[in-house]
Amino acid sequence: MVYYVKRGEIPDSRHTFTDRVRLVREELFGEESFDGLYSLLYHKQEPTAVTSVRREPQKPMSTKGDTSYVHRHLRTYMTQREGDMVSGRRYTLYNDRVRLSVVKPLVQMEYYFRSAMSEQLFFVHSGTGILFSPFGKLEFGRGDYVLVPKGTTYHMKVSDDASFFLLESRDRINVPQRYMNSYGQLKEGTPYYTRDIRVPEFSYDGLESCRETYVDFWDHFLIEEREGTLFDLEGYDGYLYPFAINVDRMAPVVGKLHLPPPVHETFSGKSFMVGTFLPRKFDFHPRAIPISYYHSNIDTDEVIFYSSGNFMSRRGISEGSITLHVRGLIHGPQPGAVEDSIGKEGTDEVAVMVEAYDPLKLADDSLGLDDPDYMGSWIRKPNSR
Ligand SMILES: [Fe+2]
Repeated sequence: MVYYVKRGEIPDSRHTFTDRVRLVREELFGEESFDGLYSLLYHKQEPTAVTSVRREPQKPMSTKGDTSYVHRHLRTYMTQREGDMVSGRRYTLYNDRVRLSVVKPLVQMEYYFRSAMSEQLFFVHSGTGILFSPFGKLEFGRGDYVLVPKGTTYHMKVSDDASFFLLESRDRINVPQRYMNSYGQLKEGTPYYTRDIRVPEFSYDGLESCRETYVDFWDHFLIEEREGTLFDLEGYDGYLYPFAINVDRMAPVVGKLHLPPPVHETFSGKSFMVGTFLPRKFDFHPRAIPISYYHSNIDTDEVIFYSSGNFMSRRGISEGSITLHVRGLIHGPQPGAVEDSIGKEGTDEVAVMVEAYDPLKLADDSLGLDDPDYMGSWIRKPNSR
């Protein structure tokens, strides 16, 4: 997504043929009409050979939901495995541009999938898997972000212990512009570099043949059957393809005094930003308070998915917890946390933060996961310091 990739056999020039007897079928896979990032895909067969389509409705995000606009703790670690990588998405928070879910699949997908609506950013909380797409196979494991561009047909095969935090976004999920120089190269001083980004191996080995492709339009699926397969490329080139990057490859930015969340930014979009809290040394001023100060994020709703480590600022939070801190209400360390933080030298936490610029609502899927005591968790109890 930030550099040119070429795999397999492709014609010398775009929109030309190499062998008139055995024509390959060129598909422009591109964003923003013909003006954004794109790749040119060379299929053996026509990618349009759809023999039938049918429609299947999806249940709405919320019909009876709790609409209170309060800080929340969603205990997603309480959920059981269910469904597959698509039907097992358990939605937590959403607005018109962004949907957040956790996925703990019980069974493998038996179809291909494509989102017509959203980019998909998987954070791998546990387990391993392979993402198959026309671009080839991309292996992933714990601590990986896997970014699948909107419109990519894919199939995922995952281990029995796999679980994910998933961001679906109507808007592009980009490498932050400020991380790139005017030539499009990742700059020095950014939390990750081009060589940390993994692109698919150009192979379909291990891909299962599925009859149907589910195309997600958010309120319904269109289910297509086709002659042949879309996983038939002779080659491709361009800038648009799925990729992965692991948190262990990232270099956190640290400082003398507490640094705000934007220094931990990983991806950005028009309606959100994604940051990653990584294991890191704390601030090195001799009288530094390493924990965050109280803050009013007056223009964003702040979501944190806690993946691993010791989460110093939040009592009662476990691996797999999600917190929502809403605009308009001040939040920060719970009672005693500032005192406890002084003198600490570092953290081993890994957590994913999503700041949504439009207000988030609670999805019906998470009604039973909401911790009713969280909003009161900042009250100092009689015996606390
Ligand atoms: Fe915050």
